[in-house]
Amino acid sequence: MRDVISVVGLGKLGLCLATCFAERGFDTVGVDINRDLVDSINAGVSPIVEPGLGEIISRLGGKELRATTNHDQTIEQTDVTFILVSTPSEPDGGFSNKYVEAALKSLGEALGRSEKSNHIFVVSSTVIPGSTDKSFIPLLEEYSGRKLNEGFNVCYNPDFVALGKVLSDFWNPDFVLVGQSEPSAGDRIASVYRRMCKNDPAIVRTSIINAEIIKVSLNAYITMKIGFANTVAQMCERTPGADADVVTGTLGMDKRISPSYFRGGLSYGGTCFPRDTAAFVRFCEQCGCNGELIEASEEVNRRHNRHLCEFVLEQISSVKDKTVSILGLAFKPQTPVVVESPAIELIDELLKNGADVTVYDRFAMDNVREIYGERLRYANSPEECISKSSVCVITTPADEFKQIDENCITSPIKLIDCWRILDPSRLGENVEYVPMGRGQEVEGCVGASVQ
Ligand SMILES: NC(=O)c1ccc[n+]([C@@H]2O[C@H](COP(=O)([O-])OP(=O)(O)OC[C@H]3O[C@@H](n4cnc5c(N)ncnc54)[C@H](O)[C@@H]3O)[C@@H](O)[C@H]2O)c1
Repeated sequence: MRDVISVVGLGKLGLCLATCFAERGFDTVGVDINRDLVDSINAGVSPIVEPGLGEIISRLGGKELRATTNHDQTIEQTDVTFILVSTPSEPDGGFSNKYVEAALKSLGEALGRSEKSNHIFVVSSTVIPGSTDKSFIPLLEEYSGRKLNEGFNVCYNPDFVALGKVLSDFWNPDFVLVGQSEPSAGDRIASVYRRMCKNDPAIVRTSIINAEIIKVSLNAYITMKIGFANTVAQMCERTPGADADVVTGTLGMDKRISPSYFRGGLSYGGTCFPRDTAAFVRFCEQCGCNGELIEASEEVNRRHNRHLCEFVLEQISSVKDKTVSILGLAFKPQTPVVVESPAIELIDELLKNGADVTVYDRFAMDNVREIYGERLRYANSPEECISKSSVCVITTPADEFKQIDENCITSPIKLIDCWRILDPSRLGENVEYVPMGRGQEVEGCVGASVQ
């Protein structure tokens, strides 16, 4: 039997979640206030770039996954509604709940008009801890005319997914977190995940406030790891014979550390880490405790961006012309998102210094063109991008860039490899290879061997 479920907010995450449900056998109703987006989904065309998404929407859009602008359909046709609308950052580091509140108002009103006995609202947007108790539950009570756990339940169920692999992260989470207003609501959400997930994840059931704190704490913790790995990379870069990958790779073998998100490279960016660290600090302040640890991570991250710019400027100072190519524009591979991307700060700095910049990224070209217009040149392939420059910077560890070898390089070039993804022995004589995070080579100094 097909289970029926609804998702409100069909953006980068909500559309992926709705698609994951539909693909795993749920009849899914998706709601968004953006009519163009709704029409596109129903026509089988994904309005969002995310690996795997387009193919599923072309099969299920308008059928097993039906989009609408009408919030009432979630109440009429389903018993569980996930809310995944955006929560923009506020100047003080907190999140604005205005879109979640607007969605809950529409949903509460629809429930008020309905005669059904119960509905479960699952907030999945990232929020400042305390939002559900202080704002969302009172709002639902006001607009539905019902009381919590007497006609509706609320769960807080945040997502731990990364852009570029959202579908596979939804299907194969390390764990599922459900903050519940009542055990029966948590049971229902747990059963939904047992059916939707392809792995068999642990499902943590707890209070709503614990779940809210866990969500803002997780990303804040990961940024500390990233900052540490980047600090080790800078250390190694300045130390003859040292190699950041050997150092962090070995440290990561210790179970207390783990190798995940523990590789020196560029600063973190995107739509989550910078926002979530700021929110963690904000919540610390609200609680009257000290957020210095995470403020330090933020500062380390900003300085690491400066370090990239200085590193590249130093490298171009010794070449005759200032033609620079940048491979990778988004904050990570496989996504078009350029928000807080290290490549963007680098482009700004290069343009300020009079460089002639050519760029390439399989997913993010349109977003970069919107920012820079004619101030940059845009290449159609990594090879074309490289051919336009005397210095090339690889800013993301995209699989496509890992294929670069001497056949892609037709004239002498300095190649700055920020993530050490290339094997210099395959690059040929035209290339001066400059890895970040690795000190000057010392003869007889081996990388590492594990026995
Ligand atoms: N992007 C990430 O990597 C990521 C990861 C984990 C958590 N999150 C959190 O998930 C939430 C959603 O993020 P996103 O990146 O998908 O946002 P998004 O901006 O891509 O999408 C939000 C969607 O909600 C729709 N919307 C707004 N108000 C609505 C309403 N009243 N009713 C119906 N639809 C409405 C918008 O039209 C838009 O399509 C945020 O809280 C974010 O912090 C994001």
